Amino acid sequence: MSPTSRAGKTKFQIDLRRHLREHYINENLTHLICEIAEASKYIIHSISTGDLGVAGTSNLYGEQQLALDVLADRILRKRLDHSRVVANMMSEEMDEIIPVSPDCGGKYSVAFDPLDGSSLVDVNLAVGTIVSIFEGCDLLQSGRNQVAAVYILYGPRTTLVYSVGKGVHEFGMNMLREYTLLQENITLKPQGNLYSPGGQRNLYTPGVEAFVTKLEERGVKLRYSGGFVPDINQILLKGQGVFFYPHLQNLPEGKLRLLFELNPMAYLIEQAGGAASDGRRPILDLQPQQIHERSPVFIGCKKDVALAEEYISQLEDGKGDVVEKKAKT
Ligand code: F6P
Ligand code: MN
Repeated sequence: MSPTSRAGKTKFQIDLRRHLREHYINENLTHLICEIAEASKYIIHSISTGDLGVAGTSNLYGEQQLALDVLADRILRKRLDHSRVVANMMSEEMDEIIPVSPDCGGKYSVAFDPLDGSSLVDVNLAVGTIVSIFEGCDLLQSGRNQVAAVYILYGPRTTLVYSVGKGVHEFGMNMLREYTLLQENITLKPQGNLYSPGGQRNLYTPGVEAFVTKLEERGVKLRYSGGFVPDINQILLKGQGVFFYPHLQNLPEGKLRLLFELNPMAYLIEQAGGAASDGRRPILDLQPQQIHERSPVFIGCKKDVALAEEYISQLEDGKGDVVEKKAKT
């Protein structure tokens, strides 16, 4: 349904819950996504005021303050714990899976990075929350089985982007702290004109170096903020670009975490018509062995990701010439 076709309402009046309901998302999943959105209101409050105290206490009286990422973790965890629709959860801040309910029927398991890029808060750059959602109890499964992914971007404005496998949609937080629809069915072009390269260039492997050189010859613009959420958000909303944090000569697994960062972003980018790869296979097809597993990543426009795979295949796996593949659009 087009936003303007809803009997007299403009798209800016459609809130998140209504949007989920209109897309026939089941009640428990709707509730879960709305609970995540609720938690983000407390997280943005802490980020913007610097108030790191817990409810009912005041930092003026010397209570111990929490690091912002630890606080964001507690806020989300508490919310999910009380949501009645979560079976298991795990966070980038935790060492192990936290069981919430032994009964998995109709419930969801959630992996989250509560405050990605938290070191950027000190220098007042954008940060975000990233969430991956599976049906049932299992969190150690391939990202292909996700039923939803969400991120919240705390930038000059607070926005929320979600997909439940029916397109990618963006919401903005208004003055009443409600999320209302900004854009439905966001899509990516097959090829882009910007790139976000993570990792030290002098540690790039031959395939990655050749890939970057090729992009630069094409005249793509450098756009790297140091925050995964704003960098992915830029690609999604501009409808083009490629982000990569590759395997490095001294870091074969790259930096970013499969379960908390890469799976949910890969799900969203694929939903928008893009691709996400570890350089050889789609991110969503990787079978995680452990919670804090990392993976190299090339994510964004299909043709750009395919080009990275081609160079890696030829220059690192010795599989023939690089021919710019025509990615399916
Ligand atoms: O959580 C990892 C993270 O902070 C991402 O948000 C970001 O993309 C990346 O690390 C930045 O890494 P670096 O500081 O090495 O560029
Ligand atoms: Mn992170």
